[in-house]
Amino acid sequence: MRRLVSETTLRPRQLILPMFVAEGLDAPRPIASMPGVVQHTRDTLRKAAVEAVNAGVGGLMLFGIPEKRDAQGSGAVDENGILNVALRDLRSELGDSTVLMADTCLDEFTDHGHCGVLDADGVVDNDATLRLYADMGVAQAEAGAHVLGPSGMMDGQVGVIRRALDEVGHSETAILAYSVKYASAFYGPFREAVDSQLKGDRKTYQQDLGNAREAMRELELDLAEGADMVMVKPALSYLDIIKAAADISPVPVAAYNISGEYAMVEAAAANGWLDRERTVLEVLTSIRRAGADLILTYWAAEAAAWLD
Ligand code: PBG
Repeated sequence: MRRLVSETTLRPRQLILPMFVAEGLDAPRPIASMPGVVQHTRDTLRKAAVEAVNAGVGGLMLFGIPEKRDAQGSGAVDENGILNVALRDLRSELGDSTVLMADTCLDEFTDHGHCGVLDADGVVDNDATLRLYADMGVAQAEAGAHVLGPSGMMDGQVGVIRRALDEVGHSETAILAYSVKYASAFYGPFREAVDSQLKGDRKTYQQDLGNAREAMRELELDLAEGADMVMVKPALSYLDIIKAAADISPVPVAAYNISGEYAMVEAAAANGWLDRERTVLEVLTSIRRAGADLILTYWAAEAAAWLD
């Protein structure tokens, strides 16, 4: 009877696996604060991606870690940059059998670790960054990404990327807008995952965690600029925001079950304090119950196998 009247579905196709690929590695490098997650080599990325797709996940979100960084994050735009090379690898391996997504943000590629370029005072320059995002987005579409994920919270980023894509004939490349992204402590382990160079914080561009009304404004702006899907991030401390977004969004809503949310459960489970599988499925089901159509989660492949 519980099955008969259950209100919330959790299916493999609703899960998106974020993956990391690093330049110049001979073997995968474990990320200590995210047990079970690694920085892949190009080779192991390909294998792990195929396994995840075979397990039934709905999509992959790729992040690249370059060997060299500079102030402009030029490795992000370079067609031979690690992220673009790996996108090409995955698209030729997987074709259209999954939805291939790319992180469209400079923070992995800049030597200061910010999501954009800096002005003379060392503050992120929103409009100068937009021009680079447009070039980065086109490079990723050319490398085979089906979906771009602008995650840098620059104002106007969705519109600028949309126009740049359309101008060069990539009108079918979609945009998953990180519309609502809070300045969160839960990104901690991700900083290790991408070897982030950031000092300080992202408070000049990410949202104040106490604000809900602002989230709806961010969402509406991205919709007006042409977002095909929108995202709320993080997920667990922001279930109310996911709900509010789902209530008004005319496009699919994604939620990112981020690195710190993953690390908390893994650490507790490793100590025997939580039943790992039950906890993971409860986390994911609760994010779906709040209203997310799609969930980005480092458990995507494993959970997909459990759910199958
Ligand atoms: C920025 C970006 C971040 C994450 C995804 N994209 C880090 C940040 O904004 O500081 C975090 C993902 C996670 O914590 O799992 N490109």
